[in-house]
Amino acid sequence: MAFNVALDGPSGAGKSTIARAAAARCGMVYIDTGALYRAIGVAAMRAGIIKGEKSTDRPGEEQAAVESAVAKLLPGIVLSIAYIGTEQHVFLNGEDVSEPIRTPPASLAASDVAAQKAVRAYLLDTQRNLAAANDSILDGRDIGTVILPQAQVKIFLTAAPEARAERRRLQLQRKGIEEPFEKVLAEVILRDKQDETQTQIAADAILLDTSALTLEESIQAVVSLIESKKP
Ligand code: DC
Repeated sequence: MAFNVALDGPSGAGKSTIARAAAARCGMVYIDTGALYRAIGVAAMRAGIIKGEKSTDRPGEEQAAVESAVAKLLPGIVLSIAYIGTEQHVFLNGEDVSEPIRTPPASLAASDVAAQKAVRAYLLDTQRNLAAANDSILDGRDIGTVILPQAQVKIFLTAAPEARAERRRLQLQRKGIEEPFEKVLAEVILRDKQDETQTQIAADAILLDTSALTLEESIQAVVSLIESKKP
């Protein structure tokens, strides 16, 4: 049986960076489940169903029409992942969409489709199959509660919205994009709101608040938790 680590938490808590580093140090595979939701978000944008904008105040009827259109799109979507070096790439009907899934509209589109039941049901087996194939760390929102309730290690990684916004601001700055802190914070809060139903803390998860930890300290904390449970 594969040894699985569920690493859940809100956007910007550092899950992907920490999971990638911890997986490398523990000899495990890192699986970024958000990339799967992002790929479906991109497919829905390309199909003209959604625009990759704020979706929390869409009127009920419009929301129902969007959900029905996305549900109809799903049977025509084939998702796969492959590793190029240690980097996970995601393929949408054979096309490598690893770059287009990272744009700001794709983030909102991912969050939009991730709130839809049909999408979560569609991705359930995909995620379970990926987890069963290797000893792996899955980063997501409901890995410890819904996808892998039997995961051997469950960690819920969190950080204050202000800490997450400041990290995001610095990340953008490194890419040459200057954004005011207030704007980045507003986006963090909006995504939390959109993702709030999906983001679940398993009763048996270990809570790890990284607000006051450096990246290295956060990685070390996750690695120690894994090593204490790994056979
Ligand atoms: O982790 P991320 O930012 O790449 O995730 C993209 C979106 O997908 C985010 O809005 C939350 C959602 N998501 C989810 O609902 N469940 C997961 N397991 C992973 C991501």
